[in-house]
Order: sequence, then C-alpha cells, then structure tokens
Amino acid sequence: MLIIGNPRNQQELSGRWRRAGKRIGLVPTMGSLHEGHMSLVRASLRSCDRTVVSIFVNPIQFGPGEDLAKYPRPFIRDCALLRKAGVDAVFHPSPSAMYPPGFSTSVEVSGTVLSGLCSPFRPGHFRGVATVVAKLFNSVRPDAAYFGAKDFQQAEVVRRMAADLDMGIDVRVLPIVREKDGLAMSSRNAYLSKTGRYAATVLYRALRAGRDKIVSQEGDIRAVKRAIRGVLGREPLARVEYLEISDAGTLEPLSSLGGRVSPTFGGRVLMALAVRVEGTRLIDNMCVRVPLGRYRRQIRRK
Ligand code: PAJ
Repeated sequence: MLIIGNPRNQQELSGRWRRAGKRIGLVPTMGSLHEGHMSLVRASLRSCDRTVVSIFVNPIQFGPGEDLAKYPRPFIRDCALLRKAGVDAVFHPSPSAMYPPGFSTSVEVSGTVLSGLCSPFRPGHFRGVATVVAKLFNSVRPDAAYFGAKDFQQAEVVRRMAADLDMGIDVRVLPIVREKDGLAMSSRNAYLSKTGRYAATVLYRALRAGRDKIVSQEGDIRAVKRAIRGVLGREPLARVEYLEISDAGTLEPLSSLGGRVSPTFGGRVLMALAVRVEGTRLIDNMCVRVPLGRYRRQIRRK
C-alpha cells in the first residue's frame, strides 16, 4: 500500500492507473477509521480496480471553537486497517500541501441542499467540505467516490457540486453503519464518557419513534416531531440543536407530510437531528418512505 503525501504525486499515480485502463475509487475521510468508513472502502474495492483512501483532517471545515485540535489522528492504526483491507493507496497530505501560502479559492454550493439542517449551525462548514472534496477529486481523479448517508447533507452537497461542475465522478452514498445499540458510528463517539455513550443511543431511539409515527399514519408532521422530541426529552444529557423533517431529494424542510412535492420527492422524507451530549455534537438521520394511504393520497391530489 502506497502512502502519498502531496497532490502532484497522487495525480501522477492516478494518471498511470488511468492510462492502464484502471477504474479508480476514492473514499475521502478524516481518519480515525471505524466500520462506517470501512463499509465505503469495501464498496470501492468491490467495484473499482484501484482504491485510494484519503486521510486529511481538513482545517477549513472546522469553525472556531470546534474540535480541530483534539480530533483523533491514529494514522498508523488506520494504515494497518486499510492495508489489511487491500487498499492500494492512502492519500495523506499535510495542511500546507493542501493549502499553501496564497491559497485563495473556495467552492460554494448554494440552493435548497443548504437551506437548513447543519448549515445554519456551522457557518462556512460546507464551503470547507466542498473545497477540500473538489481538491481531493482533482488530486485523485477518481471514477467513483464513496460517501456515507450518516452525513446526509454533506453527501448531497458533494453530489450537487460534482453534477454542477461536470466533474464526471460517480458519487455513491452508502447506508449508515450503526453500533449494536443503534448509535451511528462516528469518530466523535470516542469523546463520550460511559454515561454519555449510553445517553447517545437516544438519537436512534428518537428517530425510530418518528419512523413508527410516519409508518402508522397516525398524525401529521407536528405529531411526528412531538414523538421524536418526546423520546429526546426523556434523556437529561441530550441537548437538541435541531430536529428537521425534510424532502429527502431537495433537503427543503417540509411543513406537512402531504404538502409540497418536489420532482425528486418520491415520497421519501428525511428525519435529521443534531444533539449535543456532554458537549459533543452528534448527528443522525433516517429516510422513510411515506406509506401508501392517507399521506400518499394527499400527495397525489396536489
Ligand atoms: P469523516 O467524518 O471521516 O467521514 C468520512 C466518510 O465516512 C463520510 O462520507 C461519512 O459520511 C462516512 N461515515 C462516517 N460515519 C459513518 C457511518 N456510521 N456509516 C456510514 N458512513 C459513515 O465526512 C468527512 O470525514 C469529511 O467531511 C470529508 C468528506 C472527508 C471532507 O473532509
């Protein structure tokens, strides 16, 4: 497994692979790898001839007061995992290789995908993400790139950017990988104490309560939100930052389950939330297909 430290060398390596007719897959990460990341790695290994995993804790997507300095960086352990999995190369640039003095370009996606969810709470975050992902794409020049639905909004921002800028990259989004008790895997779960770790299971439990409410067609969006907040409210360590129910295609907040319909709506709603537990910001989401019945009939009538 090769370890590449700067964009130029990665471009040369990818160029050689490309000329040999190899299909290249990229899995962008910030390291501290877990099964969520590894599910993306395995998807790339299955459908590409060469897989590159990038490990780069991207300073420009962290806001002031966020956890850039303490973000875990177990690089040697990560490399051992990736080598064992059969990854071809790890792209691990330094911040100065990515952002040399004079760096002054950024990629800004706008529109409905940024109308809510994390974006008002993390100003500049998605600009930082789009910029680094565009740079990673330009260094690795992959045919396909793999992202997790855990960061649903991020994946939609990247999809939008790749389409709008004609990047010709197949952006694949894979399901959330969870711990046995339902907590979505995340590098940040390591910040939690034992009590906090248990409290954190409330995110998944709350989303399940919301899903049950939608599936049973018992009430409108307010009732679904009440069900979710009811579960969250019973966990004293949980501080809700946002709870949103959105059109899973456009990410626009929905005001009713049978209300506005976008061309991409297709009956799928996204329940998404951000919750702080012991100061650690955790996000989770669930996509639900609104069942045939009352809601659908309402949708069809519009
Ligand atoms: P990071 O948080 O390391 O996540 C890398 C990729 O792994 C993302 O696509 C994320 O959605 C996915 N992932 C994380 N936890 C997951 C889980 N439990 N199940 C499935 N997929 C999961 O996201 C980033 O890094 C950065 O913002 C990055 C895209 C690398 C840009 O800096």
